[in-house]
Amino acid sequence: MEPFTGEMKRTHYCGAITTEDVGKTVTLCGWVHRRRDHGGLIFVDLRDREGFVQVVFNPQVNREAHEKAEKLRSEFVISVRGRVERRPEGTENPSIPTGEVEILAEKLSILNESKPVPFPLEDETDVAENVRLKYRYLDLRRPSMQRVMITRHQVTRATRDYFYENGFLEIETPFLTKSTPEGARDYLVPSRVNPGAFYALPQSPQLFKQILMVSGYDRYFQIVRCFRDEDLRADRQPEFTQIDVEMSFVDREDIFETMEGLMEKIFRDVLGVSVNRPFRRMPYRQAMDLYGSDKPDLRFGMEITDITEEVKGSDFNVFNRVIESGGVVRALVAPQMAGISRSKIDELTEVASIGGAKGLAYFKVEEGGLSSPIAKFFGENHLKAIQEKTGAEAGDMIFIVADTWEVVCDSLGRLRLHLGRELNLIDEGRYEFLWVIDFPLLEYDEEEKRFVAMHHPFTSPVPDDIPLLDEDPLRVRAQAYDLVLNGSEVGGGSIRIHQRALQEKMFSLLNISEEEARVKFGFLLDALQYGAPPHGGIAFGLDRLVMIIAGVDSIRDVIPFPKTQKAVCLMSGAPSPVGKEQLKELHIKLDL
Ligand code: AMO
Ligand code: AMP
Repeated sequence: MEPFTGEMKRTHYCGAITTEDVGKTVTLCGWVHRRRDHGGLIFVDLRDREGFVQVVFNPQVNREAHEKAEKLRSEFVISVRGRVERRPEGTENPSIPTGEVEILAEKLSILNESKPVPFPLEDETDVAENVRLKYRYLDLRRPSMQRVMITRHQVTRATRDYFYENGFLEIETPFLTKSTPEGARDYLVPSRVNPGAFYALPQSPQLFKQILMVSGYDRYFQIVRCFRDEDLRADRQPEFTQIDVEMSFVDREDIFETMEGLMEKIFRDVLGVSVNRPFRRMPYRQAMDLYGSDKPDLRFGMEITDITEEVKGSDFNVFNRVIESGGVVRALVAPQMAGISRSKIDELTEVASIGGAKGLAYFKVEEGGLSSPIAKFFGENHLKAIQEKTGAEAGDMIFIVADTWEVVCDSLGRLRLHLGRELNLIDEGRYEFLWVIDFPLLEYDEEEKRFVAMHHPFTSPVPDDIPLLDEDPLRVRAQAYDLVLNGSEVGGGSIRIHQRALQEKMFSLLNISEEEARVKFGFLLDALQYGAPPHGGIAFGLDRLVMIIAGVDSIRDVIPFPKTQKAVCLMSGAPSPVGKEQLKELHIKLDL
């Protein structure tokens, strides 16, 4: 090991050397990716965050450097000085950007050694994810991970630039805040100096950004960590990052215009892609009806068709019972799948059942008409009507679910996505933005036997629907919107309630008593009395946006130090037990 002296400081990044540098003497610092010995010459692929370059140790050029290079192993940290040369003809490597050049080493410093690494640090890896997460410092060295982290940085940077250019103020809000669980569970932090009292880590800065509007800080944004103790999935983390925005004196159109501009800038700056504006819009109900999802992937068609009318009066009691109890019968046409096997049908039934379907009926479309084990329950008129309504053609398969509207949407929505992927109907190079609008303000929670806010309790109803709040609350539409990109909910927001009376009414509809509202949200209710301007905003899931831009499937691959599905950091070992003394100080006794 050698000291790091000034003369060995980097002049260039490895990945940035080009044929324009031929003839220059450069100094590079990085990690030995690979070493190969070839007839007296030693070749080292040297890696840093910008890429690789080949370094050649030739004893005829410098004997000392060559001797040292014999000791090099993977992941040793070195500094090399040498001349940039064009590679001899026939030895170029077109698969890397620096493939036409190499560095002829004149001096080598070995700055640190490395134990053999537990897995190869290549882009393609089949090593188990828990091993990658345990050795995250090595995993993050893999070029593919470095590219994603750089992409993330570029998205963040484009976002900040955009907001600065458009007159937004970047303002921080607290992490130690008040527990107001609505939605997910809170992460709690005990207060040592206030025994028995807890802070909550924010699920979002929602209330603070609204208060900032009351205080006159019109056009706020923040790139901010949020914490939610919820069940984790492929696109959810317990701590994740929002691009959080709030504006005063605006309506929905202003927010759409501003946010479409943000997306346009991010996609142009980071990917060089121009997005089509204005983005499409679709009411929630239509999205559910046609695609079985409130975040439809519009990169492919395969729309769901309602055939409740068409199957009425058949002898198939499964459908009849559903129709009698107010449910719906709907169909999804799978192109050219009539020939699939029984076991394939079982597999697809399994997919539909995740959405709650109790079965998956099907009709094969043949030249002469529809065939199915259940065809005998239907008259010719029914079969003809089903085929006509769905537009299915010979060779197609018609899948049908009968159930409540919710179950049918969810089941066929899942089946649609599954088939879209399986049949390669999704054009991966496309970016399909969609504003989903006209969400219901409330939904009924069967478990809790009360209304819950579909977005959050601070969302304003559509003004025309306010009279319905008393008569038929489930029909009230919210001034809420989601931004969906390629079937992922990348953002959500709303125009807010800015009057105390309406906010109190909303709490009471949600079965939050006056007392509870005062305790939990008193500061907001009070603030609304002192000249709160009309305001609205949105928050984007930065991690989800980066997933799509970087083209990765797991949210853990866009977060440098993520948690597992069990909310554990395998590298640091968090969460972990703490000592008795620490607990005592916090006045906490464990009940395990
Ligand atoms: P919402 O709860 O819809 O809205 O969150 C906004 C966006 O944040 C992302 N997101 C997540 N990403 C990763 N892991 C999670 N656990 C997670 N939860 C949410 C999603 C989502 O669209 N305060 C409101 C916004 C507003 O009204 O302005 C809010 O938090 O992409
Ligand atoms: P069964 O009468 O339960 O044997 O079902 C006959 C066929 O109807 C099978 O293919 C089931 O998968 C299908 N099926 C059962 N329940 C439903 C339902 N709710 N919606 C659609 N198909 C169903």
